[in-house]
Amino acid sequence: MFFFTVACLLVESAFALDVRSFEYYGKGQYKRDVSATGSPPYPTSSFPANPQPTGGACAGYWLENKKHQGLASFNTNAGSGENGTYQVFRNVKDFGAVGDGQTDDTAAIQRAISEGGRCAPGVCESSTTTPAVVYFPAGTYLISSSIIDYYYTQIIGNPNCLPTLLATPDFNISSGLGLIDGSPYQGSGPRAGRTGFGPTNTFFRQIRNLIFDMTQIPANVSATGLHWPTAQTTSLQNLVFNMNSANRTQHQGVFIEEGSGGFMTDLVFNGGLYGFNVGNQQFTTRNLTFNGCDTAVNQLWDWGWTYKSVSINNCRVGFNISAGGPSAVNVGSLTLFDSSIKNTQVGIVTSRTADSEPAGAGSVYLENVELENVASAVLGVNGTVLAGSSGAIVIPAWADGHRYLPNGPSEVRGTIDPSKRPGSLLDAEGKYFEKSKPQYGEVPLDQFLSVRDLGAKGDGTTDDTEALNAAVLQAERSKKILFIDAGYYRVTDTIYIPPGSRIVGEALASVIFAASPSFNDIENPRAVVKVAQPGEQGSVELSDLFVSTKGQQAGAILIEYNLASYGEVAGLWDVHTRIGGFAGSDLQTEQCPTTPNVTITADNLVQECIAAYMSMHVTKFGTGLYMENNWLWVADHDLDDARNNNTQITIYAGRGLLIESIRGVLWLYGTAVEHHVKYEYQFVDTRDIFMGQIQTETAYYQPNPDATIPFPEDVARFDPVFSPANGTNNADGWGLRILRSSNILGYGVGLYSFFNNYSTACSQVGAGATCQTRIFSVEGNEHSHDISIYNLNTVGATDMITRDGVDIASNVDNNSTFVDTINVFRISDR
Ligand SMILES: *[C@@H]1O[C@H](CO)[C@@H](O)[C@H](O)[C@H]1NC(C)=O
Ligand SMILES: *[C@@H]1O[C@H](CO)[C@@H](O)[C@H](O)[C@H]1NC(C)=O
Ligand SMILES: *[C@@H]1O[C@H](CO)[C@@H](O)[C@H](O)[C@H]1NC(C)=O
Ligand SMILES: *[C@@H]1O[C@H](CO)[C@@H](O)[C@H](O)[C@H]1NC(C)=O
Ligand SMILES: *[C@@H]1O[C@H](CO)[C@@H](O)[C@H](O)[C@H]1NC(C)=O
Ligand SMILES: *[C@@H]1O[C@H](CO)[C@@H](O)[C@H](O)[C@H]1NC(C)=O
Ligand SMILES: *[C@@H]1O[C@H](CO)[C@@H](O)[C@H](O)[C@H]1NC(C)=O
Ligand SMILES: *[C@@H]1O[C@H](CO)[C@@H](O)[C@H](O)[C@H]1NC(C)=O
Ligand SMILES: *[C@@H]1O[C@H](CO)[C@@H](O)[C@H](O)[C@H]1NC(C)=O
Ligand SMILES: *[C@@H]1O[C@H](CO)[C@@H](O)[C@H](O)[C@H]1NC(C)=O
Ligand SMILES: *[C@@H]1O[C@H](CO)[C@@H](O)[C@H](O)[C@H]1NC(C)=O
Ligand SMILES: *[C@@H]1O[C@H](CO)[C@@H](O)[C@H](O)[C@H]1NC(C)=O
Repeated sequence: MFFFTVACLLVESAFALDVRSFEYYGKGQYKRDVSATGSPPYPTSSFPANPQPTGGACAGYWLENKKHQGLASFNTNAGSGENGTYQVFRNVKDFGAVGDGQTDDTAAIQRAISEGGRCAPGVCESSTTTPAVVYFPAGTYLISSSIIDYYYTQIIGNPNCLPTLLATPDFNISSGLGLIDGSPYQGSGPRAGRTGFGPTNTFFRQIRNLIFDMTQIPANVSATGLHWPTAQTTSLQNLVFNMNSANRTQHQGVFIEEGSGGFMTDLVFNGGLYGFNVGNQQFTTRNLTFNGCDTAVNQLWDWGWTYKSVSINNCRVGFNISAGGPSAVNVGSLTLFDSSIKNTQVGIVTSRTADSEPAGAGSVYLENVELENVASAVLGVNGTVLAGSSGAIVIPAWADGHRYLPNGPSEVRGTIDPSKRPGSLLDAEGKYFEKSKPQYGEVPLDQFLSVRDLGAKGDGTTDDTEALNAAVLQAERSKKILFIDAGYYRVTDTIYIPPGSRIVGEALASVIFAASPSFNDIENPRAVVKVAQPGEQGSVELSDLFVSTKGQQAGAILIEYNLASYGEVAGLWDVHTRIGGFAGSDLQTEQCPTTPNVTITADNLVQECIAAYMSMHVTKFGTGLYMENNWLWVADHDLDDARNNNTQITIYAGRGLLIESIRGVLWLYGTAVEHHVKYEYQFVDTRDIFMGQIQTETAYYQPNPDATIPFPEDVARFDPVFSPANGTNNADGWGLRILRSSNILGYGVGLYSFFNNYSTACSQVGAGATCQTRIFSVEGNEHSHDISIYNLNTVGATDMITRDGVDIASNVDNNSTFVDTINVFRISDR
């Protein structure tokens, strides 16, 4: 998170190291070497086909019909519904919605969201104690005004038969922004004139499986499908936006003006003025289809935005990133790949020129983009800068911005060799493999087990170690899917997840909660959740889960990943670590206040706030791992502070995400790692890693203390070595450190350092990016090679890239929109 306000905008503005050969066939046709053993394409699932539910396509979904017993463990009314106790799961029909397309269901749906003392926009900044699933059975729900979303809400439709939100012809567009308004503008109160929730603090929410039908609203009304100014741990999945497509339509599908996202996938936009009308620090988005929009994507502003597998058809404009014009380019960067633009006049409209300002902004990287019947692929201020094509062609790679190969900068606009894509990371068509979070729509209810039925309590205090371990094993042995009902499952020893496990959480509120002396030895770290033992092979599917700690847990490695998946893919979707900052953690304002005015040393550092050793470790054994929308977060503020004021706190967690997989083969779609001591991402002796928008933030307290304390150097886990901070050396943790690794591909990398000892003066425009000296390190001399980073955006770092101790890219050469931007950074073959 970072509370960053943009003066805005529209609203009021074993390693058989199978180095697979990669072949490149002219014109951007990627092709795998299919002769290699164990090659992709990966099967969509390595799990056995389940029996189909009876009742046809609209059959009840397991989630709808199961026993609802999720707990909001630290809610003073914790419970699971029934008699006035806090209800996590809410079926809109239980609140009076009819879903017949005739009855106005607005009020009933709103009740399902609001009831139970939940965290409402405008009056509540955040809360972790009032999570909810708001479920829509199949049906057409007529609405006449905006549905207002609350904090910590998962809105889920029946994926077997998408429910429709049907706006009435006279839908009240003054009632909010959108059929669903994720954060309505406030007329009065503490957030008057602003969105109801702070956009960069709007976490823990999803919307899945819905059709937004706006077609009855007249085209001349500026109607919005969804207003979604959000931050990390938010996602949209499997939504359709049907807009009025009459001439001069004013409809827009998704509107975002601020925030620090986030992830979106599997969205379809039909008609309208804009599919996306969006601005945000960063987002990862994939599998988006735009049909017959005027402008598919109107990019209001950004630092970095990753677009993968986008299909634009029959629009006038694909992407308009020209906001601000050449004198004040608003869009930091755009990364677009594995996509197509067809029957559309203009692919991308840019305002970047040889002397546009800021010089680094408007950075564009295109790779494997197909065009057909496109007059101008890239249109600049004075006409076409990259020609389109009437016939079908592929742009192998094209780049516009500041280039370091590996030294620079050079200012280049034009074609560039495409990435050498490791075959291990590709699908049958040569695109980077992708796979959406499984929702198990086809699986009948009797194929699920619930941990609470199997004896786990999830009340935040009972020791659930044995019950949880037994439940995981029972589910795996019986080939069933384990449902972890919402709740905090306190564990005192490791939870082992064997190959073959499929585990799903509820409401983003299923938390494995480490609280034990066994996780508190800073010299002998121990895994809280261990996915497979070293040497084990197979696959797992884990989704919507949190791993957290209670109080001092100086030796806790929250997730240790050892599983080897060959020729199949294991996945972690929405699996997060959250360390401190929530009710029940004993790591809140009271215990861990900020102390910027006290010089922190090893002697006065608050030991009780040493909350974790490492968020996640992919060991040498782990391989074939797909990660999507994961946030490894050490809390910078208290989400449940009594003053309800985003009060900052100081929590110490040693390390973020360490990957030392020998074989590599990892996909990181939409991952973010924040506020750890020594590094956020560290890759050691690994290879074949795809990253599609990664994002980091340095700990706000650094360099008081700096990264040398409180964690002693762990040589076995390749800790970076820091010299104590002094006037010339900040000794802040690394955002990204790559050591002796190869075939590392980053499509959008945002490494941010906003603070110095809790002051943001160092990151303000004109301050010279002095929050920390260095932020991104590539080490290992010739052992680190074939590294390609597209659209590197840094904040507050004097030097953007450091190679073997030498700074090679100064921020002042790459001034951009608040961030500093490098379009292409490559270290090629040794
Ligand atoms: C709710 O109240 C009813 C009637 O008093 C009782 O039978 C039921 O057991 C209660 N349920 C819970 C979860 O307390
Ligand atoms: C539309 O919503 C606004 C804001 O809630 C309200 O003031 C107004 O009365 C509504 N209009 C109608 C016609 O209901
Ligand atoms: C839209 O068009 C209708 C019919 O021409 C007209 O009555 C209405 O005022 C227009 N609305 C807006 C917002 O322009
Ligand atoms: C839309 O506009 C185009 C071009 O101005 C015109 O040819 C067409 O007839 C219009 N369509 C409708 C339905 O008004
Ligand atoms: C992309 O999204 C569409 C629409 O939701 C879906 O049908 C399709 O399966 C998705 N493609 C992939 C590769 O997931
Ligand atoms: C692109 O957006 C700008 C506003 O930012 C607008 O003025 C311009 O007309 C748009 N360009 C095209 C080709 O639609
Ligand atoms: C665009 O054309 C105008 C008029 O010819 C010229 O003055 C200007 O320098 C051109 N800008 C760019 C970026 O080429
Ligand atoms: C931290 O900031 C405070 C307040 O500006 C200052 O007094 C103190 O010296 C700083 N400490 C360090 C170690 O930078
Ligand atoms: C640190 O000192 C400054 C200047 O005296 C003061 O404004 C601020 O409130 C202090 N901060 C804390 C957390 O005590
Ligand atoms: C909340 O924080 C703001 C800014 O730091 C401060 O002005 C305000 O007084 C605080 N409110 C409360 C209730 O603590
Ligand atoms: C500060 O630390 C750096 C890195 O260890 C060292 O090179 C430099 O000499 C030190 N400077 C001072 C003033 O101590
Ligand atoms: C970048 O911005 C800094 C001030 O933040 C300024 O000193 C520097 O000259 C700028 N660099 C370029 C190349 O304009």
